[in-house]
Amino acid sequence: MTNRYHARTTSFVRRGERMTRSQAAAWERFADDRVIEVERADGFTTVAPDQTLDLAAIFGGPAQRTIIEIGTGTGDQIVHAAALNPDTHFVGFEVWRPGIAQALVKANQAGVSNLRFIQADAEQGLTHLFAANSIDEVWTFFPDPWQKSRHHKRRLVKETFATDVAQVLVDGGAWRLATDWRAYASHMIHVLSAHPDFELYNQGRFAGRTLTKFEARAEAEGRFPYDLVAYRKAR
Ligand SMILES: C[S@@+](CC[C@H](N)C(=O)[O-])C[C@H]1O[C@@H](n2cnc3c(N)ncnc32)[C@H](O)[C@@H]1O
Repeated sequence: MTNRYHARTTSFVRRGERMTRSQAAAWERFADDRVIEVERADGFTTVAPDQTLDLAAIFGGPAQRTIIEIGTGTGDQIVHAAALNPDTHFVGFEVWRPGIAQALVKANQAGVSNLRFIQADAEQGLTHLFAANSIDEVWTFFPDPWQKSRHHKRRLVKETFATDVAQVLVDGGAWRLATDWRAYASHMIHVLSAHPDFELYNQGRFAGRTLTKFEARAEAEGRFPYDLVAYRKAR
């Protein structure tokens, strides 16, 4: 039977779930404490509705701020930020389990405990798992660019997803974005400047953004990042 989860267009393609021996060992060792289990709607990476997470219970206490990163890859950015900001809770969405396993190793090496991962599609998980008006910042750095026009509908940054981000952000909260593709940067500017809930700014490089392997590879290929920040307007 087809349903809306099977039929949906996702911003990712399912990559191999196979982990190396050391990634599997890291998953075995750290996932219980650092990966938040969620109820699935209909299989891999989906998230059932109405299961708002109790972040204070998950982290063992409240935080000054909560930041969500979408598409954590192998975790360079979120681990770096968690180490620099021990009073902030960080939650990362990533669909690719071997990437999360690598991030778990880095989190352990950095000795950070203010960090959790969710292996799920952020397009479903964001509003199903987080209360409205509860998140200080959302980060989306180097989302898959989906360059061919027939693939543009797969881009994560679009009006419907912007509305989801606006729902979870607090008033004045920030959605920080970066991309190494000029066409995607233009698309982001188009979406966010037209969205009624956001005030868009171009900015220089966000000071809290570290150089990930992904960005370094883009630079080696001659592409440089565009950083944007959109602030959630007061409700
Ligand atoms: C191009 S990579 C960039 C990774 C990382 N941000 C960096 O700078 O190294 C994009 C990542 O986003 C993940 N991703 C794409 N769509 C996603 C979604 N809807 N929910 C969660 N993760 C997603 C992909 O699996 C991939 O690891």
